[in-house]
Amino acid sequence: MQRLRLELKAETDRSYDVLIGRGILNDLHREIKRIGSFSSYGLVTDDFVRPLVAERLQANLRSHDINSELLSFPPGESSKNMEIVLQLCQQLIARGFDRKSLLLAIGGGVVGDVAGFAAAIYMRGIPYIQVPTTLLAQVDSAIGGKTGVDLPSGKNLLGVFKQPLLVVSDPDVLITLPVEARREGFAEIIKASLIANPELFSLLEKEGTHLLEPANEVLESIIAMAVEVKCRVVSQDEHESGLRRILNFGHTLGHALEAASHYSLTHGQAVAAGMGVAIQFSQKWAGLGQDEAERALSLIRSIGLPTGLPGEVNSESLLSALEKDKKIQGNICHFVLISKIGQAVIHAMPVEDLKESLDKFGTN
Ligand SMILES: NC(=O)c1ccc[n+]([C@@H]2O[C@H](COP(=O)([O-])OP(=O)(O)OC[C@H]3O[C@@H](n4cnc5c(N)ncnc54)[C@H](O)[C@@H]3O)[C@@H](O)[C@H]2O)c1
Repeated sequence: MQRLRLELKAETDRSYDVLIGRGILNDLHREIKRIGSFSSYGLVTDDFVRPLVAERLQANLRSHDINSELLSFPPGESSKNMEIVLQLCQQLIARGFDRKSLLLAIGGGVVGDVAGFAAAIYMRGIPYIQVPTTLLAQVDSAIGGKTGVDLPSGKNLLGVFKQPLLVVSDPDVLITLPVEARREGFAEIIKASLIANPELFSLLEKEGTHLLEPANEVLESIIAMAVEVKCRVVSQDEHESGLRRILNFGHTLGHALEAASHYSLTHGQAVAAGMGVAIQFSQKWAGLGQDEAERALSLIRSIGLPTGLPGEVNSESLLSALEKDKKIQGNICHFVLISKIGQAVIHAMPVEDLKESLDKFGTN
């Protein structure tokens, strides 16, 4: 098991551990008892993860004298809304949860964001633990304290920062994850390697196509290395006023691409394509060498993700999506680029350059 720590410099008492290890969910009772005693325990999950992980976990906790209530909602992004949060809070009230209760978010990014948000607002805030069950959640969404829900007009428009007390990631639960969901996670892992960890990049390169195998032996180390990047960045900039923006590598364009393609691409495909374009921009604007650019592009392709814009998306539709997303201000768009593998830089790009570059580099 690896125990990493997300240090929050401003208030060290809100710093927390991120535990990563195969089979560690069997010891969750010990970790819960180590961090405190609580009046009641709510296991929040989705209906799909409930029988896969949450019911087993509930039985395990019960055998160690931790009795909990199981609360679940339908899986998927369509559940990331205020209605589900309100239903959750009403169920907590009905079951007598108070300010000394603890919530556990057991699921992918949707469960983590919804349960974290409910924990942030229920009785002005109660503690919660993240138990991520998708690769994306284990390396990204469960860490860093961003919680919230979507509005009909856009994703993640309501939310707060609410750090968990603990994150517990067991790679064994990923065995049931479909390959598409694995790719979503690897898009974020490759991002972490490109912006801040060349050793992780080399390991990913070495593993190549084995990365997608469900029982990959090095997955635990890969997750830990990606988590270390996120912890390092968030600990220096919890509220995304500076450094945390480097986590947006591939995402600025990725989000625009999702919108411009009318959500025909998955989030991971859009981020991968966004990284592909950012890598080519990096050669022109940040001094990234040809050899490193090619290695980065071929790593993304090796796990079955695209590195360029799909044919139906053109620079006009992307620029208009970037504008709508408020990413262009005063004729400038800030892009995260890399000057070498493992080194991110922020580049202020005038719209004219952006349009020209998109026309030139956007395609595969
Ligand atoms: N808070 C953050 O910092 C942050 C960062 C990145 C993404 N996000 C959010 O995360 C969400 C995406 O997360 P996601 O990709 O985990 O999606 P998800 O939570 O919708 O999970 C995807 C699907 O996988 C299923 N699933 C979960 N665990 C499984 C398992 N072990 N085996 C088989 N199936 C399993 C779920 O039931 C769901 O159907 C988005 O809403 C996004 O906005 C948040």
